[in-house]
Amino acid sequence: MLKKKTYEKLKKICIDESEETVVFGEGNLDAKIVLIGEAPGSKEIELRKPFVGQAGKNLNEFLKVVELEREDIYITNVVKIRPYRINKETGRKVNRPPNKNEIEKYSKILFQELEIIRPRLIVTLGNVPLKTLTSQKNIKVGEVHGNIIETKEYTIFPLYHPAAIIYNRNLKDIYFEDLIKLKKHIKK
Ligand code: URA
Repeated sequence: MLKKKTYEKLKKICIDESEETVVFGEGNLDAKIVLIGEAPGSKEIELRKPFVGQAGKNLNEFLKVVELEREDIYITNVVKIRPYRINKETGRKVNRPPNKNEIEKYSKILFQELEIIRPRLIVTLGNVPLKTLTSQKNIKVGEVHGNIIETKEYTIFPLYHPAAIIYNRNLKDIYFEDLIKLKKHIKK
């Protein structure tokens, strides 16, 4: 109960202190596995839920291969608002990578989320959560994907970001090999 209260308090602080729409993490607060993405996109902002739309389809594929249910895990992002710029020609918002300030501000919240949930394993998607959790500026998912990283606080399983594999057949194969490795690790 205290856990839930602490969690709700953190969520409220995050929403109150953000000038833009927040997509907070969601899922099982007792989860052994936490999945961390980069930042919400337009669909996530619309529904105020992480990993919906195309990203949600990727997530479902992930869960199926790894043999987990969405209810088993906790899903969140490093940055809780949508980083965007305006396309000068169309006047529309387009996604951009989160900047240093956004990562710094919201990673403080992320660390508190993890402190509440205390998962056994953290699966990072892409470079942003990997760099944030390892505090290693130069670490690259291309060099460490599919291999467990132990830090003082966390056990991390780095994966490519699903968006990175869409147009790259080779990466797609590697991503699926990594998922099988992850499944074996979880079942151990
Ligand atoms: N949607 C999210 O919530 N996070 C991502 O990293 C990508 C899409």
